[in-house]
Amino acid sequence: MKEVQAILFDLDGVITDTAEYHYLAWKKLARELGIEIDRTFNEQLKGVSRIDSLEKILAYGNRLQDFTREEKEALANKKNELYKKMITNITPADLLPGIKEFLEEVKQANLKTGIASASKNAFRVIDYLQVGDYFDIIVDAAKVEKGKPDPEIFLKGADQLGVDYCTCIGIEDAAAGIKAIKSAGMFAVGIGSRTELKEADIILSSTNELTLETILPAYKNTSAAQ
Ligand code: BG6
Ligand code: MG
Repeated sequence: MKEVQAILFDLDGVITDTAEYHYLAWKKLARELGIEIDRTFNEQLKGVSRIDSLEKILAYGNRLQDFTREEKEALANKKNELYKKMITNITPADLLPGIKEFLEEVKQANLKTGIASASKNAFRVIDYLQVGDYFDIIVDAAKVEKGKPDPEIFLKGADQLGVDYCTCIGIEDAAAGIKAIKSAGMFAVGIGSRTELKEADIILSSTNELTLETILPAYKNTSAAQ
């Protein structure tokens, strides 16, 4: 059995509640296009890249064929401008409950840390939250070819940290993210709904429950069973 070496964190919905701002920005844009989306539909957008999210919304509203590639890019940019306006007020107070304490604990335990977020705004959000020092690496989403549920971003994160994939723990709030972690051969911690995240190795209902004491025994059991 290999000891855990690194933790790879999703950002939106795990470190801070930007998942809500992504939802509100998409909802506004969709409404302008005559498409109504709700929180249930939004679960499918979590963890998914900007352009893939737009295509899912257009398909949902039966409008996928109505726009050229350039028009879709303009719509995705418009959503991003809305989103960027919404996040300007983010401060360290917007870290989700228990995250600061967990990051401290992980550092004390000498584990490596990385951000594996599909968001091209990840560097900006980490800056606003003033938690850059807690992470050894942030994978640049702009350089990732295949979005979650493809494992690429988690594999890149582990490569940048120089650790074996099977010694990594990934933490995610999205079904697409959990799939990506599992396909990367890593241990998956889900934060959120038991039904949405059923493929995770362990599911916690809130970031408040994130402690090494909760996660490590489950990691050890799983890797011992393999
Ligand atoms: C993910 C979010 O982290 O990043 C998605 O869960 C979002 O909702 C994706 O679409 C891409 O983010 P951005 O900031 O590059 O549009
Ligand atoms: Mg997320």
